[in-house]
Amino acid sequence: MSENNHTLLEVKGIRKSFAGNHVLKGIDFDVRAGEVHVLLGENGAGKSTLIKILTGAYTKDAGEIYWEDNKVEYNTPSEAMELGIATIYQELNVVQELTVYENIFLGRELKKSGKYSFLNRKKMKEEAAKHLKRLGQDPSLLNKKVSELGIGKQQLVEIAKALTVDAKLLIMDEPTASLSGSEVEQLYATVDELRRQGMGIVFISHRLEEIKRMGDRITILRDGAGIATLPVKETSVDKMIELMVGRSLDEKYPKQYFEKGQEGLKVKNLRLKGSNQEINFTAYQGEILGVSGLVGAGRTEVMRAVFGADLKESGTIKVFGKEVNIKSPKDAIGAGLAFITEDRKGEGLILDQTLDFNIGVSSLKKFKKGGLIQLGDIKEAAKTYVKELQVRPSDINLHARKLSGGNQQKVVIAKWLCTQAKVFIFDEPTRGIDVGAKVEVYRLINSLVENGAVVIIVSSELPELLGMCDRILVMHEGKISGDLSRKEATQEKIMKAATGGM
Ligand SMILES: Nc1ncnc2c1ncn2[C@@H]1O[C@H](COP(=O)(O)OP(=O)(O)OP(=O)(O)O)[C@@H](O)[C@H]1O
Ligand SMILES: [Mg+2]
Repeated sequence: MSENNHTLLEVKGIRKSFAGNHVLKGIDFDVRAGEVHVLLGENGAGKSTLIKILTGAYTKDAGEIYWEDNKVEYNTPSEAMELGIATIYQELNVVQELTVYENIFLGRELKKSGKYSFLNRKKMKEEAAKHLKRLGQDPSLLNKKVSELGIGKQQLVEIAKALTVDAKLLIMDEPTASLSGSEVEQLYATVDELRRQGMGIVFISHRLEEIKRMGDRITILRDGAGIATLPVKETSVDKMIELMVGRSLDEKYPKQYFEKGQEGLKVKNLRLKGSNQEINFTAYQGEILGVSGLVGAGRTEVMRAVFGADLKESGTIKVFGKEVNIKSPKDAIGAGLAFITEDRKGEGLILDQTLDFNIGVSSLKKFKKGGLIQLGDIKEAAKTYVKELQVRPSDINLHARKLSGGNQQKVVIAKWLCTQAKVFIFDEPTRGIDVGAKVEVYRLINSLVENGAVVIIVSSELPELLGMCDRILVMHEGKISGDLSRKEATQEKIMKAATGGM
């Protein structure tokens, strides 16, 4: 922490209910200049709701907010921004079709003085360059279209925007959830630099190692109540889990072993559109096959092509020995494939439908008896998954929109588990899911394997791959650069293959 660590923001007794459901039950919380204050808690604990109150997106039911020792009231994000509070939500707010500097000044464009108030592009570019430099970026970035940038850089554009409004407090809701590898490192460096410059930062994350690395203090929420605030130095990952879940966790990776069976998914000479690399791999029954690699290595692209979400140039796919012709996701589902993406907004959920609808919608065939869909059976199945995955609230009649981010992700997983797929491809299955619920996801994956399904996990989290997989493929620049058995695999070997050193 820097010397200049006066309290920027302090809140006392914050309460919030949604339709009688007490989501925040009197929270006290404060952030100092030059510190990273982490908010930690299980899915649905109330973290996002608290920060939405701090940023003026939600109105509190009760409680007080002090900004630099003065009591303040605000009800809109722009009022909070006036004070110096900027927020990076999990879903980025950048406009893809605009350039970096246009995004940075979006809504607050600098004008030339004079009658016609033309945009002062020169000034905006100068300012943007200054802030990009402050973030360690090449200023030439400012003329690029945002759509050309990766998620990590897009997030930096949002941070640069916060700098131009002279934010003193930056709130980030799971900023690393959509990043991986080098992008995460870049974000850490940026946060370190901003902290050094005296900015106060609120950081939400489910990655406990990251919290150890990044945080100065940590506040733990459980069921809408503040359990503890303590210096990160005085805590450990196990202690965090205990405070958060209310009990200690015996095992983070409940690995089970099964006998290797048939060739479940065989991908042969697969070439993606615009690539001249050929991909070959086979996933077997009885094993969990991991896929690792840095951002841009092509992991998701390969899986999308296998699933028919993107067109492929050439190649054959066999499911349990039978060649299948997949030209669309519909073909893939018909062939027994399931693709569980992390994108709950895009292809995952219908937010204004109930949980049981969302869980059952892709499995209607399974629930048909004598030509009629058995709604009761869908409800039963939905209840079972909601219970096993600890979805909270557990009411299957609620609309998905009412759930916290992590709980929505669990519903996406439930939806696919409900289908009778034979091959499950999970892309970052536990992103945004708390430690306790992760274990439940792994257990369900185990039971899929036990029941004869083929499971592939694409993940950026090496501990997850090392903890759960029997074999790990590593990708580098569009091709498979490593195929490591569970015994052989180590972080070092994976990294080496991922950077082309093998
Ligand atoms: N708009 C809403 N209407 C009704 N209930 C809501 C609404 N937004 C949030 N909730 C409820 O408030 C509780 C806290 O949700 P919140 O999004 O703050 O959790 P979170 O701690 O951010 O969890 P996660 O780690 O999953 O993101 C949850 O039970 C959620 O269902
Ligand atoms: Mg949240």
